[in-house]
Amino acid sequence: MKDLDRVDGKAKVTGAAKYAAEYNYPNLAYGIIAGSTIANGSIIAMDTKNAEQAPGVLTVITHLNLPKPPGYKSVTENEKPLSPKKEYKVFADNIIRFNGQPIALVIADTFERAVYAASLVKAQYVKKESHTDFNEERKTGKPIEGGDDFKNYVRGDADAYKKAPVKIEAEYTIPIEVHNPIEMHAVTVVWEGDDKVTVYDKTQSLMDAQKNIMDLFNLPEKNVHIICHYIGGAFGSAFSFWPHTAAAVMGAKKIGKPLKVLLSRDQMFTLVGYRPQAVQKLGIGAREDGKLLGITHEADAITCSYQTFTEGIVNISRTLYSCPNVNTRYKVYPLDLSVPTWMRGPGETTGTYALECAIDEMAYAVNMDPLEFRLLNYSETDPENNRPYSSKFLREALQLGADGIGWKDRNPKPRSMKEGDLLVGYGVGTGVFGAWRGGASVGAKFTSDGTLILQTAVTDMGPGTATAMTKLASDKFGIPADKIKFIMGDSNLPPGINQGGSGTTSSLGTTVNNAVVTLKQKLIDIVKQTSVFHTEKIHDVDLKDLVFENGYMMLASDPSTKISYTEVLKYSGSPQLEIIEKSEDYNDNKYSSYSYSAHFVKVLVNPATGVVTINKVVSAIDAGTIVSEKTARSQIIGGVIGGIGMALMEEGVIDHRYGRWVNNSFADYHVPVNKDVPHIEALFVNKPDPIINPMGSKGIGEVSMTGFPAAVANAVYHATGKRIRELPITADKLI
Ligand code: MOS
Repeated sequence: MKDLDRVDGKAKVTGAAKYAAEYNYPNLAYGIIAGSTIANGSIIAMDTKNAEQAPGVLTVITHLNLPKPPGYKSVTENEKPLSPKKEYKVFADNIIRFNGQPIALVIADTFERAVYAASLVKAQYVKKESHTDFNEERKTGKPIEGGDDFKNYVRGDADAYKKAPVKIEAEYTIPIEVHNPIEMHAVTVVWEGDDKVTVYDKTQSLMDAQKNIMDLFNLPEKNVHIICHYIGGAFGSAFSFWPHTAAAVMGAKKIGKPLKVLLSRDQMFTLVGYRPQAVQKLGIGAREDGKLLGITHEADAITCSYQTFTEGIVNISRTLYSCPNVNTRYKVYPLDLSVPTWMRGPGETTGTYALECAIDEMAYAVNMDPLEFRLLNYSETDPENNRPYSSKFLREALQLGADGIGWKDRNPKPRSMKEGDLLVGYGVGTGVFGAWRGGASVGAKFTSDGTLILQTAVTDMGPGTATAMTKLASDKFGIPADKIKFIMGDSNLPPGINQGGSGTTSSLGTTVNNAVVTLKQKLIDIVKQTSVFHTEKIHDVDLKDLVFENGYMMLASDPSTKISYTEVLKYSGSPQLEIIEKSEDYNDNKYSSYSYSAHFVKVLVNPATGVVTINKVVSAIDAGTIVSEKTARSQIIGGVIGGIGMALMEEGVIDHRYGRWVNNSFADYHVPVNKDVPHIEALFVNKPDPIINPMGSKGIGEVSMTGFPAAVANAVYHATGKRIRELPITADKLI
């Protein structure tokens, strides 16, 4: 069926869409967080007088005067054995764990007055030595120990690559990267009385946000209402229960007025997570004919002192290639920084960068084309657990991408291709991310005017969830898209699913699909009571005998025998059909399930200046059946742009003397702009996964990015003959 424009596109571009910071109330107060100026130590005195006396200020909340909510009383000394130190709850104590940690929430009658007054808050500290330099910490510090996340994995022999006829060893590093969505985090809180609260939050999980606030105040579910109709990008930054949200809910309660708390761009670097810095060592061994003999993938990454954040950086090396000996090691070092969090392709983006660069290096070491090398070592079943893949069309994706970029015309010799004065390079990188399905529920209502209303508590950080679900329902139910209303973004709706891990379409789509099947069956049950489909041959019409199209059900064998859904409804005696459909987690241990991407990049490198330009991108994706092609393509474009940033420009810089951010602004932390982004061709294999869900779809959001930075690094090598193993690949590293 015809592809669909974004159903919420018009609201977004006209400003009609309301974001968390755009809800206004009479008497609304504004809260701004003041941050610490040290990275480790404790507060011995607060000076809030000047702030309290500034114009319009209602109150200044600190650890000294916060009415501690019930949730704070149950704080036990960190239950996680892995965490070496105390848990962090905003304003719970005087301990400082990172520079920029909230020390006060300044509340005033206008935004500007709150910003000004927050600048007047001062604290006296007892300072302790702070550690934020990862390279130092790897030498002198201790990684966190214990727990399954840090168990070494061995298949066959450990470090077998060392004995292989051909081997490479290389170390790859990535800096801290920050999500930096356009919409900054904000929260608007409205208490009704003492025990009922409405929170307009920016969140990828309505249910988690609700649960966290219920726990904080000991409130029943029905008394905590979370609303998030629109999100201006998140990439993983809107999953956790962040300090500013807790501060806002507590602050609003204290003042007894609606309160809005907004983060500034620089606070987006300290208060809502980041992708952890990582150093990875790859050792790969192969026979002279290119068959892999051993892969060793080791990763060291950062976490913070008060929480142990882990992600599966090394896991993809266990599954992506057919190789008898694979071992992985993973360690994290606690630093005096704020906690890292998930960021697009969490773990896999970091891991595929190193693995896919090393695979390229290995291909050159055995004199093979990097594409051919990948196909030679293709895993047909999952070598990690010997399970078949529920579907794997990576070979097809590699072929599509290679054809699209013109790989066959590539001269494999490094620094051999030129356009004018510019060096030309082609590179490939494979991306992978787990495909899965979780449980979700959807309310579905078919009304007498022919409208289908779908309702579920999900949010959309940008992929186009409402559009994809509308498209799916339209295709499956057989009514035009403009007859479908998809309502979401409210915790009062039937519990949907978190938006993350590339799982929304698979999970929610299953429920929408099943809801439509249920509705069709109900229509059939009603129509069976009539004589509409009674023919000589068919007496008991069933789903399989009918076609549902354009609001009509018709006999497959004789389309002129038909009736409209609304006509059927009239026979039922009720004004509408209404159901709640619920789908459970898919959990079948017989298969291994992944989405794949094959990113192909053409770069131009100026040999005089070292400037790398991305000239062309072709990304071919195996994400099963594509449910909504236009939004899927947009996701690929978005992920690739994230990958361009990671490969060429994004780098979080900390001044280690103070543990303080240096480049916490859009002026200094570079992300791609229009001129950095060429035409991006997104191609889809579009073959169904027969196992995971009834649509045959697999996730798309993360494989759009995983593997891409490696494709760029490999293209830069092909163009210049230089292996830059440290992201971002900036001009200074090439000259
Ligand atoms: Mo994503 S990093 O699962 O929001």
